[in-house]
Amino acid sequence: MPHLIAPSVLAANFGQLAQDVQMLNQSAADWIHVDVMDGRFVPNISFGFPVIESIQKVAQKPMDVHLMIVEPEKYIEQFRAVGADTISVHLEACPHLHRTLQQIKATGAKAGVALNPHTPVTLLADVIQDIDVVCIMSVNPGFGGQKFIEHTYRKIEQLKALLLETGSDCLIEIDGGVNQQNAPKLLAAGADVLVAGSFVFSSANPVQTIQELKTIKI
Ligand code: DX5
Ligand code: ZN
Repeated sequence: MPHLIAPSVLAANFGQLAQDVQMLNQSAADWIHVDVMDGRFVPNISFGFPVIESIQKVAQKPMDVHLMIVEPEKYIEQFRAVGADTISVHLEACPHLHRTLQQIKATGAKAGVALNPHTPVTLLADVIQDIDVVCIMSVNPGFGGQKFIEHTYRKIEQLKALLLETGSDCLIEIDGGVNQQNAPKLLAAGADVLVAGSFVFSSANPVQTIQELKTIKI
């Protein structure tokens, strides 16, 4: 399967969000990555339902909603109602992860699990069959524009081994500090989906930058 590119609208210009989403519609982006932060699970607050609903009205690509919030199980149906196609919850925020994954699937959305940099991929062994996407955080969640953590390559390889061992076809997504330099190595290690925020939106030509990420050959 060719790899997927998921630009993060966290790095968009919120004063012209509709235009930025239209730009993504015209680009080679596969998914639109939507970062929800609550000021509790992470030390930052981003946006909530009304903003996501506005994105959905314009978006012509699937919305990949990354919940950096405590007690995500309280809001799964509401995120689905405002257009989430994939809903990712953090393992560290879910004492009943298996139940939360079933709850996501019951809405018809794809179920994702995000892992903080310190969380080993082996903790997913007993739920891997219930997951559509594993999002490996390659920065500490909470902010765009941070430095990529090099240990991520090792985690991708470990997750890839777990997927092969269990016959899972779940996708490996990498989120944080992704750029043109590390993308080829991430893909070579086994990444399927690359999230990119500041690298895309702070570039002179975001459409071209997305195209370059999309056409990397390994
Ligand atoms: C970080 C978010 C990321 C962020 C990526 O907490 O989950 O999705 O938007 O931004 P960059 O690509 O700038 O690191
Ligand atoms: Zn994210």
